[in-house]
Amino acid sequence: MLAPRVRAVPITLCSVPLVSMRQLLDEAASGGYGVGAFNVNNMEQIQAIMEAARDTRSPVIVQASRGARAYTNDRFLWHLMQAAVELYPEIPVALHLDHGNDPATCISAIELGFTSVMMDGSLEADGKTPASFEYNVAVTKEVVAYAHARGVTVEGELGTLGGIEDGHGSGEVHLTDPEQAVEFVEETGIDALAVAIGTSHGAYKFAQAPDGEVLKMDLIQEIHRRLPDTHLVMHGSSSVPQELVAKVNQYGGALKPAWGVPREEIQLGIRHGVRKINVDTDSRLAITGAIRQVFVETPEAFDPRDYLKPARAAMQALIAERMGDFGQAGHAGDYEPLSLEEMRERYATAAVRT
Ligand code: G3H
Ligand code: 13P
Ligand code: ZN
Repeated sequence: MLAPRVRAVPITLCSVPLVSMRQLLDEAASGGYGVGAFNVNNMEQIQAIMEAARDTRSPVIVQASRGARAYTNDRFLWHLMQAAVELYPEIPVALHLDHGNDPATCISAIELGFTSVMMDGSLEADGKTPASFEYNVAVTKEVVAYAHARGVTVEGELGTLGGIEDGHGSGEVHLTDPEQAVEFVEETGIDALAVAIGTSHGAYKFAQAPDGEVLKMDLIQEIHRRLPDTHLVMHGSSSVPQELVAKVNQYGGALKPAWGVPREEIQLGIRHGVRKINVDTDSRLAITGAIRQVFVETPEAFDPRDYLKPARAAMQALIAERMGDFGQAGHAGDYEPLSLEEMRERYATAAVRT
């Protein structure tokens, strides 16, 4: 028997615009605040972020990793984001690719409609092997040329984070060299620079509450001193609240003792040029704690809404708290979002630094 013919449905571009991440970060720099970049994989996480943004009147960055794009098959992600901008027109929201591993991945995200991409050339395309400075400059520059010609923002990374919990990363920490950072920004023309200051992805960042020996906030200050006009990005910025770890374990989880980045350290970073703060693990912990609680306390429940609703509410509360901590709360209505076409013209006329 012949296999049924499957017709590929072309992805239609969004009729309601997502906002340029560069504009969000420029506005944050003028206002002296940071903007959380929250990872998503499904509808409930997008809803949690958008509801928190509405409650706190925050501009926001929604980001998706390669894993998230595979999980949602791109199309579900895209249409969910379209729903988000339709339903929350008062919220400036940028859609960002987290840890693009090569130019092709970044280009496919731009083609899909992402308004910002990260070209993580600190690692080779396998997402594991630390790359040379020359390789990093070459791939990042290539993406900047393609992206800026379309008004799209580019984040680059210099130095590598520790930890390989989520399968991404070399497991080796290479702290960002401030001198090399200047050369990297000048050569690539990126909009935002992710720096390695001792954090890592996932729950197990530090063996105890971090001090200046392991969490190098002084490095942020030095890089900002040399690059005062570059938006800095802190990856691995979940705070791993002790009460969330305890809640997961109280309801049958088996998390080991875990410490994250304290809120005060992130706020110190924001005073020294950090504009984008990446948070994923904290959302995962909030969701898992809420779901485990329902399973333990209501073992007879089997309607997914019985546990997904509290999970979504727990993530929403967490994100709203972060929006307050980072200072983005209250800034949603500060400015008129520019179109990508306007951003393209600005890049072309060097009205924004490239
Ligand atoms: O890069 C780290 C983020 O937490 C995304 O994680 O690759 O498991 O989606 P993921
Ligand atoms: P966390 O694992 O600390 O949430 O970091 C997320 C991140 O950096 C995504 O790029
Ligand atoms: Zn990251």
